[in-house]
Amino acid sequence: MDWHRLSQVAKSAEATPIIDRFGEDDRARDFSVAAGDLLFDYSKTSMDAAGRDLLVEMFHAANVPARRSAMFSGGKINETEGRAVLHTALRNLDGGPVLVEGTDVMPGVRETLDRMEVFAEGVRDGSITPRGGHAFSDVVNIGIGGSDLGPAMAALALAPYHDGPRCHFVSNVDGAHINDVLLGLDPSSTLVIVASKTFTTIETMTNAETAREWIARKVGMDNAGAHFAALSSATDKTAAFGIDPDRVFGFEDWVGGRYSMWGPIGLSLMIAIGGQAFRAMLAGGQWMDRHFAAVEPLENLPVMLALTGLWHNQGLGHATRAVLPYEQRLSRLPAYLQQLEMESNGKGVSMDGAALPVHSGPIVWGEPGTNGQHAFYQLIHQGTRVVPCEFMVGARGHEEALAHQHRLLVANCLAQSEALLRGRTLGEARERLAGTFEGVELDRQARHRVFPGNRPSTMLIYPLLTPYVLGQIVAMYEHRVFVEGVMLGLNSFDQWGVELGKELAQDMEPLLLGSREADGKDGSTSQLVDYARKHGD
Ligand code: F6P
Repeated sequence: MDWHRLSQVAKSAEATPIIDRFGEDDRARDFSVAAGDLLFDYSKTSMDAAGRDLLVEMFHAANVPARRSAMFSGGKINETEGRAVLHTALRNLDGGPVLVEGTDVMPGVRETLDRMEVFAEGVRDGSITPRGGHAFSDVVNIGIGGSDLGPAMAALALAPYHDGPRCHFVSNVDGAHINDVLLGLDPSSTLVIVASKTFTTIETMTNAETAREWIARKVGMDNAGAHFAALSSATDKTAAFGIDPDRVFGFEDWVGGRYSMWGPIGLSLMIAIGGQAFRAMLAGGQWMDRHFAAVEPLENLPVMLALTGLWHNQGLGHATRAVLPYEQRLSRLPAYLQQLEMESNGKGVSMDGAALPVHSGPIVWGEPGTNGQHAFYQLIHQGTRVVPCEFMVGARGHEEALAHQHRLLVANCLAQSEALLRGRTLGEARERLAGTFEGVELDRQARHRVFPGNRPSTMLIYPLLTPYVLGQIVAMYEHRVFVEGVMLGLNSFDQWGVELGKELAQDMEPLLLGSREADGKDGSTSQLVDYARKHGD
């Protein structure tokens, strides 16, 4: 993969101000992908035709299409763990068979989805109740990472579709989290869903035990089981925890944690929005899968999103990218994408174990607009580092009576992308201040009001954030990560980088308890252990 050439081509393209490119024939249309109801516009970037051609050439040189087919058809492309990668099967609602080692996984996927739906509808309509009680009023999903971020993000995104019990999420091992969530709830009408693929994650298991004690205090340990369900592939461990197998929804090792909201891990969401809306989200994801699998790179949403990402990060060296949804209900999307992108592509070695010849995937961060505008956009507009921005916005909002507010939201989103592009020159700044200042002071004041402009951004615009559209957006980002990962030559589906800290934390606990001395630790760690012991409980 000729990363050096990409960098040369990108740097030479960057010499032309982006705004000048709009003199070219219909740049906006040519550097956009319109598919389904979605429009992805990457024309406000420095990418030119030569750069794009090179990226498409690199896409083919990396054999992305073959790798993509291998993923969809159950090939073991997660090579370090010897696993297939088939989250796409979870939304293959009306598709054909998907074989893993010669066995079609689709009957199992459909059966689990149907079981989830029966359970979810039972909780929603009150036919599944706690022992001797009324219907469940609240659902608490206990999970972390992929067992939390997906359903938590989607439950907030789809708030207008909630017509089931209230839905809460507990992830942090910090007791403050579960304490604060349970505070307002009644244990006798609360359903706790323990979501953990492995059912060993320390945060989740600790919180699950806390929740069980909380429920048992009110209804008795013998009745506590009726308040629990589990989402896991480790059925032996769910049984040991005492969860009735009828309330365990399993999935296979070919569903990675951060790709798992489409199956059982989405149960809390399904309870909140109902089976029909949940299936609509899956259908949106399936639409994106088909689009990704079939369409040529230039017309392919995830592919062009990926190539734009590589252009900015590996081509131009911009280490971060900001995800800026103008959609308050997507306020957890940046956190969701942090796991999806950074746990998938934040790796220093390629699939064969050799050092990566180029930087790994970018640092992803963001906040919804317009809030971010009043916080960190200052740096985005005038700071010395360039942050490529990924805006997204719905043309409509759900609040019909507040359409004027939505118009303001859209206006702000479009204006920010325009401001980043055009900036403001010193001459323009001077002109605006001419009546207020003069001479040296005019010049000094004007300099503070200059916007360099020429700052890259992309825009994803969609009609309305429905379950179907959310499914399209999330699947688009999943495939973007896949394309970037394949082109970088790394394995997007393992996460060894989370292990060391977990191991050391286990070792640290006895030190904090004082049952062992901090011998052999570095000076800083020993000092911190001493402080925590002195001031802790
Ligand atoms: O520690 C990282 C991780 O393994 C993530 O990949 C995963 O989403 C999360 O922990 C939770 O894992 P589990 O679902 O097994 O509890």
